[in-house]
Amino acid sequence: MNTKKILITPGDGIGPEVTEQAVQILKNIAPLFDIHLDLIEKPVGGIAFDLTGTPLPDETLETAKISDAVLLGAVGGPKWEPLEFSVRPERGLLKLRSELELFANLRPAAIYGDLVNASTLKAEVVDGADLMVVRELTGGIYFGNPRGVEERDGERVGFNTLVYSESEIRRIAKVGFETAMKRRKKLTSVDKANVLESTEFWREVVTDVGTDFPEVELSHMYVDNAAMQIIRDPKQFDTIVTTNMFGDIISDAAAMMTGSLGMLPSASIGGGVGMYEPVHGSAPDITGQDKANPLAMILSVGMMMRYSFNLTEADEMIQKAVINTLEKYRTVDIMAQGKTEIGCREMGEKVLQSLEENNS
Ligand code: IPM
Ligand code: MG
Repeated sequence: MNTKKILITPGDGIGPEVTEQAVQILKNIAPLFDIHLDLIEKPVGGIAFDLTGTPLPDETLETAKISDAVLLGAVGGPKWEPLEFSVRPERGLLKLRSELELFANLRPAAIYGDLVNASTLKAEVVDGADLMVVRELTGGIYFGNPRGVEERDGERVGFNTLVYSESEIRRIAKVGFETAMKRRKKLTSVDKANVLESTEFWREVVTDVGTDFPEVELSHMYVDNAAMQIIRDPKQFDTIVTTNMFGDIISDAAAMMTGSLGMLPSASIGGGVGMYEPVHGSAPDITGQDKANPLAMILSVGMMMRYSFNLTEADEMIQKAVINTLEKYRTVDIMAQGKTEIGCREMGEKVLQSLEENNS
């Protein structure tokens, strides 16, 4: 048996509830593929601040660096909003992504089974939609300097810097093209090249990387148009590659094809240790009520199997169990007529049952 050390960081809000369900799935799937799990739990985010005074304690970061993968729930919540910027829960997550050099964030948005009716978009618009957002994750305006709020000419001024080096664009573009090669070979690069020099440069470099991938059909789209097109006709997209902030926005929009942010998993890769987290946040409004949808987190375990351990089959098994479960059961966010509404815990149990049935 092959041992995999996995850092579990449930974080804040609904993070712990959904993580608990995802860990059950992880424990069930691992032995099927001869994996022995060494699970270590450490705090990140607001809870870490409460315990240690920092949202990313050294011990959590050091453990992440020596793990084979990280499974993260969610961070943040109103309780920590008044805190000074540098110790906010979100800073912990951003530092973890950056320290692990996870420059590529893969966010697939596809319609699972008959979820087509859970979307706020018309069924014919979303039926069959299947896209992947490849978001740059360790650069751009999220990390650029200078940044801050200071006094200039007698008034306060807030500023951030959108900066990308050629090598940063090249490496994420390459992930974009490689991802497209494994899919339908269509890549849309999203920028704001008509206004921002840094993204005009982005467009130039992405185009150049494209010469190494002649089979991929590359197109470029401004971010405002892309946001509109995702709602208007999501089926036109296969793979989208974009900057950190545009990717943050576009992926939330893409999530709504599926009816709920509670359905979208993500994989952050590029460094030695991959990190897997749902796209949704900590949802403080429903925390502790057993209402959260654990499927994004469960599907993130599937992405871990695929991207960190090269176990495509394990990912497919998890996806299949999720699709089967959705035929009968729904959490409140994706509830539809004729289905049975269940909570977070029970949803986790149903997926586990389906996984077990498929393997017996
Ligand atoms: C996401 C989240 C994070 C981001 C926040 C919590 C820092 O919105 O993963 O999409 O902006 O990257
Ligand atoms: Mg976001």
